[in-house]
Amino acid sequence: MADDPKVAFVTGAASGIGRATAEALIRRGYSTALADIDERAGHDVESQLRELGECTFVRCDVTDDDAVRDAVGRAVSLYGGLHAAFNAAGIDGEHGKATADATMENWNRVLSVDLTGTFSCLRHELPAIVASGGGSIVNCASVAGLKAAATVSAYTAAKHGVIGLTKAAAVEYGRAGVRVNAVCPGTVDTPMFRASMPEQLIERLKRTSPVGRLAEASEIADVVVWLCEDAPGFLTGQAIAIDGGTTA
Ligand SMILES: NC(=O)c1ccc[n+]([C@@H]2O[C@H](COP(=O)([O-])OP(=O)(O)OC[C@H]3O[C@@H](n4cnc5c(N)ncnc54)[C@H](O)[C@@H]3O)[C@@H](O)[C@H]2O)c1
Repeated sequence: MADDPKVAFVTGAASGIGRATAEALIRRGYSTALADIDERAGHDVESQLRELGECTFVRCDVTDDDAVRDAVGRAVSLYGGLHAAFNAAGIDGEHGKATADATMENWNRVLSVDLTGTFSCLRHELPAIVASGGGSIVNCASVAGLKAAATVSAYTAAKHGVIGLTKAAAVEYGRAGVRVNAVCPGTVDTPMFRASMPEQLIERLKRTSPVGRLAEASEIADVVVWLCEDAPGFLTGQAIAIDGGTTA
């Protein structure tokens, strides 16, 4: 007998951790909506991942609540429901400025993508998953959601907020059969990470990491897929660090 159809919605799917997770979900049989603001990269990723299974790029700016509503609605109408979501769209903003020197523009931009964008995704994903009989949502926080990252106060505040939102949604929707968790990656080798870190700093981070290296995006993807597929139903409302032991 064929397995029941499974549907996933992934934001930030055109690059890095979101892309790797979309790929892993497709390999596990999810029909996957690839949501991202970057149309060109999104279409490229769609054509690469189509070889593995069913997926569709959906242009979506997570700072636009109507666009998020339409993108989630598109996934549901294309594939007949929603069972898993991974909210990975994010930016890190300006680096290198202590809080009093950081700009309001940076604060507003980072909070609107990383925190309000995640809220918007939850607003539309939760009812769609409830209507589909339950499932799992994973928000992408960061180790900067667990402890301060100096000179990126907006990012630190946004990622702490993502963990708060995760807990709030988890306690509200547990009885409706929706588990909501967050992953907190450490240093992951992605375009965002390479763009914001000088090579010297990357080498220092590797040297001081308990495992002596950066993470691959696929290592975060594996945890997200486990949370969506295999994790016990009692596991909800948690922020799981995947950081090579740095917060330990
Ligand atoms: N790379 C790391 O070391 C690391 C560590 C901790 C947390 N994270 C988090 O992981 C997530 C993914 O980061 P990444 O490293 O893969 O970065 P990335 O830059 O490779 O990918 C981010 C994706 O989000 C998309 N995006 C940005 N703004 C958007 C918007 N307004 N609407 C829709 N899509 C938008 C981008 O187009 C891009 O495709 C982010 O939330 C980031 O904060 C990354």
